[in-house]
Amino acid sequence: MEIIDTQKNSLASIFPDEGKVPDAQVLDAPVHQREILIDGKIRTWEGPVQAVFSPICLRNEDGKLNKVEIGSYPLATENEASEALDAAVKSYDFGRGEWPTMGVENRIKHIEDFTFRMIGCKQEVVKLIMWEIGKSLADSEKEFDRTVEYINATIEALKQTDNKSSGFEIVQGIAGQIRRSPLGVVLCMGPFNYPLNETFTTMIPALIMGNTVLFKPPKYGTLLFCPLLTAFRDAFPPGVVNTVYGRGANVVPFLMSSGKIDVLALIGSSKVADQLIKLHPKTNRLRTILSLDAKNAAIVLSHANLDETIKECVLGALTFNGQRCTAIKIIYVHRSIADDFIKRLSNEVNKVKIGMPWETGVLITPLPEPTKPGYLKACIDEAIALGARICNEGGGEIVETLVKPAIIYPVDSRMKLFREEQFGPVIPVVAFDKLEEPIDYLIHSDHGQQVSIFGTEHEEIARLIDPLVNLVCRVNINSQCQRGPDVFPFTGRKDSAEGTLSVSDALRSFSIRSMVATKLNIQNKHIFNTIVHENESKFLNTQFIF
Ligand code: G3H
Repeated sequence: MEIIDTQKNSLASIFPDEGKVPDAQVLDAPVHQREILIDGKIRTWEGPVQAVFSPICLRNEDGKLNKVEIGSYPLATENEASEALDAAVKSYDFGRGEWPTMGVENRIKHIEDFTFRMIGCKQEVVKLIMWEIGKSLADSEKEFDRTVEYINATIEALKQTDNKSSGFEIVQGIAGQIRRSPLGVVLCMGPFNYPLNETFTTMIPALIMGNTVLFKPPKYGTLLFCPLLTAFRDAFPPGVVNTVYGRGANVVPFLMSSGKIDVLALIGSSKVADQLIKLHPKTNRLRTILSLDAKNAAIVLSHANLDETIKECVLGALTFNGQRCTAIKIIYVHRSIADDFIKRLSNEVNKVKIGMPWETGVLITPLPEPTKPGYLKACIDEAIALGARICNEGGGEIVETLVKPAIIYPVDSRMKLFREEQFGPVIPVVAFDKLEEPIDYLIHSDHGQQVSIFGTEHEEIARLIDPLVNLVCRVNINSQCQRGPDVFPFTGRKDSAEGTLSVSDALRSFSIRSMVATKLNIQNKHIFNTIVHENESKFLNTQFIF
């Protein structure tokens, strides 16, 4: 982390003057997207559009800060959503379509073709991630590269799964070949904080398993998909990938209540997930793969190595402004070291670089959600009114979309910051005397994603591990919470998730085991042998994919 003293400058001065954005980072032109992809065709939208403003502000000649308008996208309606749905249903054709019946090897070739085309759009997509959601250039590039790696790893994982299924199991005189087959039409919706990565970590496994897809880009982080539309059109058969544009509240309830969505893959809020699921007329037929709210706690024990702990807590709480579902969103620190911890944490937080996304080493950048600064201020004001204080100099200062990180202490159960997922650069700290206190916090939390324990005494750490693995799904020792490496299972309990994502878990999530079985008599052996030898079926097949 680069150490700077520019936090002493006014926040406002961090925004550049018009014309002072480095040449390489300027958007070549605003992206006024009018294209929507339905049934293998890119059509031109002529209806109303949504203007897109970057959270990055520029100062005009009068010294006024203005958000930069970077483009617009179609505000399509239920009609287009309905056509997209029909196209996905037709393309799936009750499992008889070209895509769901295609051999795995060929589906992999289509995904590889798409990936090749996608890589060609890297620069454009990365720049749009940066301008649309204010993510640092380094992290925007990382998001793109991580997504490509995820796709490649998914291909390898599917080859392995499929190869394992290439033989027959013979039990009690019955021979069966068991493979994973698709589920139907998948609606994919990703979040604004990882718009590309988290949309693709559901969409790619859904596609490669033979499902057809409708995808709705997040509210912030929409334009970055525009350069990829032709890649989708050219890499897949018609109707396999369809876009849904428009206000979520206008188009998504319609899709869910149609009863034609077989899988809902949503990375977003539990409230929205709950409402959407209830709209499906046959919830028993709907598979849901959800990654939702989280309020991961760090527990700092009395014997923690504070240098390491503070480094991890700062990164865990403030990377991309704390806008990660896995971010550390509350810190429990043992009372015996609380004062020292707060002092040292404040020193480190005040060294964090606040700046424009293209600056090297920047951690705090403009926030994309227009209501977020106001919400964070309300949380801080409430905590102060209830007896907490801002511990670091200037913490919580707001200028337009920039919010200076704030450490709030002592936080208690009366405050919003105790339970609500702030998803922003505010670090609530609670002092505890007994281990039972943070455990009790996790027991009564609506969330159950991850926790981080910081300490050096293995016996006490072990005493915490055993209850905590049954309250959350990942216990990190002396390390911040995080999703990766992507081969590890990513999931949560309670309101935090449903289903598991990882390179291989996602393949299972978007498919179901189907089998072909027969009693092994002479006639059936002949039928099976002939089908296999003559390569007559794509399912009943013993081919190996290299
Ligand atoms: O927002 C949730 C992301 O999946 C977190 O991923 O821990 O790699 O930042 P990360």
